[in-house]
Amino acid sequence: MCGIIGIAGTKPVTDRLLEGLKRLEYRGYDSAGIAVIEKNNHVSGLVRRRAKGKIRNLEERIELEPADGLFGIAHTRWATHGAPNEINAHPHFAGRVGLVHNGIIENFTSLRDELKHTRDFVTQTDTEVVAHLIDEAMKSGLSGKDAFAASLKKLTGAFALGVVIDGVDGQIFAARRGSPLAIGLGDGENYIGSDAIALASLTTRVIYLEEGDWAVVTTDNVEIFDLNDTPVKRDITIVTGSLAAAEKGNYRHFMLKEIYEQPETVSHTLTHYVDAFNHKIKTPSELELKDLDFAKIERLSLIACGTAAYAAYVAKYWFEQLAEMPVDVDIASEFRYRKPALIKNSVAMVVSQSGETADTLAALRYAQSKDLQTAALVNVMSSTMAREADFALPINAGPEIGVASTKAFTSQLTALLSLAICAGVQRGHISETYEQKLIASLTQMPRLIAETLTLDDDIEKLAHDLSKAKNAFYLGRGMHFPLALEGALKLKEISYIHAEGYAAGELKHGPIALIEEGTPVIVIAPTDELFEKTVSNMQEVSTRGAKVLLITDKEGARKAKGMANDILICPDVCVETAPIVYAITIQLLSYHAAVHLGTDVDQPRNLAKSVTVE
Ligand code: M6R
Repeated sequence: MCGIIGIAGTKPVTDRLLEGLKRLEYRGYDSAGIAVIEKNNHVSGLVRRRAKGKIRNLEERIELEPADGLFGIAHTRWATHGAPNEINAHPHFAGRVGLVHNGIIENFTSLRDELKHTRDFVTQTDTEVVAHLIDEAMKSGLSGKDAFAASLKKLTGAFALGVVIDGVDGQIFAARRGSPLAIGLGDGENYIGSDAIALASLTTRVIYLEEGDWAVVTTDNVEIFDLNDTPVKRDITIVTGSLAAAEKGNYRHFMLKEIYEQPETVSHTLTHYVDAFNHKIKTPSELELKDLDFAKIERLSLIACGTAAYAAYVAKYWFEQLAEMPVDVDIASEFRYRKPALIKNSVAMVVSQSGETADTLAALRYAQSKDLQTAALVNVMSSTMAREADFALPINAGPEIGVASTKAFTSQLTALLSLAICAGVQRGHISETYEQKLIASLTQMPRLIAETLTLDDDIEKLAHDLSKAKNAFYLGRGMHFPLALEGALKLKEISYIHAEGYAAGELKHGPIALIEEGTPVIVIAPTDELFEKTVSNMQEVSTRGAKVLLITDKEGARKAKGMANDILICPDVCVETAPIVYAITIQLLSYHAAVHLGTDVDQPRNLAKSVTVE
């Protein structure tokens, strides 16, 4: 997660860019930089100042070497591709183009290969190639605007961009695809920013760009185009109230905002575990797990509560399939009381968003008392679990305010899948070619999640029906079985509709007695080797009157045509990462069902964000 701000101004911009960057520092602070179009004696030129580390380092740099102008862009970085140093810091320059970027350009390697004979690349980032693309397009005769639009078409990934071009002063180009970007409307000036917080001291009038939008921002005009380059009008939101309210942006609830943050939060998680530039999973020593040797581990115990436990259940499939590593999953409140037969060379890994959940913490301490090596996979790195475990592993999802866990879940899954790949490589079960394929699948996830979010309107309609039900069932097989459990938990906790998740093959052993005319059954089944079997189970409930919603992909929809009442078609995704992408659909379904019912979505009854009692 990086932060972007830009000003198309009538007054000098540097101090204001720095002020905006400070507000965005929560999004990343490996390095920071600004680029402005300076005008001296009627000669204009693009200049930049960058510094490693926090924004105060950049300020010191600018004090020593001032730079100012009326147009500028700025960036605070959370490194994804390439070390956090000054060379990799944004803005990146290529010819006349200066560019800031948040997110991942998935196809940067092939684009670099196409350009490397004519262009000099100086950074290890995925970003620099975009600046080259735009500059190259202008060299072929396109205007800045057309070059920007044409370059966007060549990019795959989830990203937000801000661009200034030397000689095209007066215009800032911006684009949003998968990562957030807002436009601020000022008095004789206009702005771009990653969120309303960045723009808070500049304006209260904000336009949140929609998925695929791009814009040309000048001092007195904002032109917005959609994915097909058609000019569009977007609503203006007046951002007022407390900072907390501003943090919700134009989202009605924190939960919805957190659902929509997932292209970014998942890429943030990946940054920690994947060396995206070299297409490799990071080794335990690169992850600072110096004594951890997956090759020597005989058993992994994953221990957690609630949603975190369902992430652990999914991970069991990954560790077993990718690393042939035996895995136990325990609900934390049961772990120590069942007096588990623990074996020596095993690792106990607790999974917890907060890192403070009492049952999980007690399980961690119990494992330590039995001399097991322990690891804590947490979102809060200052938490007790992170401090007490032998190894602390971050998920980097950022603060999760909604009581219902959403972005922490997909980040837990992403971290666990990465660790399973790391274990598979270390245990010799993943070839180099397979590792590269898996890394490609991981880096595609932010984009695929963004694509899945575009199903929101369809899901909202489906949720309307679901909200009328008294009971609902979620079915899945393989790693989609725990996802079915998570779907049911999500629905229960925020809509108060009774819901159960089952392994699709298990329903006929009893629970099928509960199916009656109109009972909603949500079937999670991408096309994989278990698809046909899941469809058979789907038909068993369908013939007993269930109202079936099938969540699948294009191929699944084709195969199951006419067999479900409704079909939600997700993007094609590889089998390993499918649970992470499909998680978005069940989160949105619960969210909209709860909103229809008018419950307190962010603070549902009887629940607490961090459960610190046993
Ligand atoms: O902070 P933790 O991940 O340890 O919390 C575990 C559960 O309390 C939590 O996942 C809970 O189930 C959420 N309400 C689920 O949305």
